[in-house]
Amino acid sequence: MHRIAIIGAGYVGLVTGACLASSGMPVHCCDIDTEKIGKLSRGILPIYEPGLEELISDCSKPGKQLVFTTDLKKAVTNSDILFIAVNTPTLENSRCDLTHVFEAAVSIAGVMDGYKIIVIKSTVPVGTCRLVKQRISDELSRLGKSYGFDIVSNPEFLREGSAISDFFNADRVVIGADNHDAADIIKSVYTENAKCCCPMVVTSLESSEMIKYASNAFLACKISFINEIASICEHCGANVSEVSEGMGLDNRIGRQFLNPGPGFGGSCFPKDVMALAGAAESYGLEPKLLRSIMTVNSEQTARMIRKIEAATGGLDGKTVSILGVSFKPGTDDIRYSPSVAIIKDLVSRNAAVRVYDPKALGNLKKENPELKVRYCKNPYSCCSRSDCVVLATEWEEFADLDFEKLKSIVRQPVLLDLRNMYPPDYVKKLGFYYEGVGKK
Ligand code: UDX
Ligand code: UDX
Repeated sequence: MHRIAIIGAGYVGLVTGACLASSGMPVHCCDIDTEKIGKLSRGILPIYEPGLEELISDCSKPGKQLVFTTDLKKAVTNSDILFIAVNTPTLENSRCDLTHVFEAAVSIAGVMDGYKIIVIKSTVPVGTCRLVKQRISDELSRLGKSYGFDIVSNPEFLREGSAISDFFNADRVVIGADNHDAADIIKSVYTENAKCCCPMVVTSLESSEMIKYASNAFLACKISFINEIASICEHCGANVSEVSEGMGLDNRIGRQFLNPGPGFGGSCFPKDVMALAGAAESYGLEPKLLRSIMTVNSEQTARMIRKIEAATGGLDGKTVSILGVSFKPGTDDIRYSPSVAIIKDLVSRNAAVRVYDPKALGNLKKENPELKVRYCKNPYSCCSRSDCVVLATEWEEFADLDFEKLKSIVRQPVLLDLRNMYPPDYVKKLGFYYEGVGKK
């Protein structure tokens, strides 16, 4: 039975550790954040991810497989396979910050007590795994240790809000390695233990790292593409939902990731497209398409703000209600959320902004303590006396809003549906001015 350590108990590390532990493997989930580990040891999760609380509760009962610790030495010496899942944020120059990855790697070398397979699960630029290998070798030599180890690249393709399902129903597992024996061991973690029956793509370290970036950049490209098509639809009278439907039936295109909105957010797409473009430029290339993905994306959010300004006849002193703050439904994550960018811009232009989100208000308040918005307890109080209601994140609970009730509490019946969540005719019949994205 493989013994697993997860270094970095974040959105990715926690899900990976819990899913591997639920397959029966002993897992030590290690983090430098003592408060986070303390809470996890008491069954309190630092993040919201559907199903994760139950999964962790099942696996971390006394005598069960999942252990939370800040003691790296304990995690490493009780494990043979070490997953590095620390965060890789973006630096000012749009490059990927690998500090945490290198620190984790060198710290592992400092406590190694024998052969290990070190798996890089964090999203890292092409070439990073080889750099990590060198850092570990150098540290082992410095310490006079001669333990063997292998580096394996195993990028994650988990979507927040469906991460557990994405783990067990992955379309593929990507494994990059120099050493095929190490690759086979990681394959067995997924096939024999986690019972994953999807294709296993075993390739080089560099190709594995690139598969992750290229996949995210392509998905982001699909979103910017449909957002641009939506803008054209608004001028030519086409309905972008029907266009997406018609396009998506072509199996070379596929229907997913063709939903227009306020722009893509999250801890991955913005960061990964920027990092890939930065890497291309470091090779002296000009990544025109990658740059355009980001330009279209930031312009899309600006376009939403112009819609709100036009619908209210001017923002100063107007009350704008924002339904949805997280970057997508099913998560409390507000990293790079277009809704947050919209809220900040509206506040800066003297609108009175009321916000509601089923899960993400705590993060909004924690990350922006000075932000002058009214935090509301439910969608209706959020819409009270509103001059413009903005549906920014398509949470399930917004699907069956009582529009009759809404009509009676707003000041102006104006609805901007930035996720095309509602049937326009139905809302208009109730007397609302309705605008979606890519449709009238
Ligand atoms: C993950 C991947 O690691 C990242 O590469 C990908 O681009 C997005 O998903 P994520 O899980 O979202 O990142 O990061 P985060 O939720 O910030 O969690 C990272 C955890 O690592 C934090 O809990 C942090 O405390 C921990 N950490 C960071 C360590 O334990 N050690 C470190 O040296 C640095
Ligand atoms: C993404 C990738 O999907 C996942 O494979 C990778 O491992 C991590 O990054 P995530 O960022 O969690 O996952 O969510 P995702 O569902 O991809 O949505 C990303 C952003 O794109 C969200 O802001 C979402 O609202 C937006 N989006 C998505 C659209 O605007 N339109 C779409 O059709 C799909």
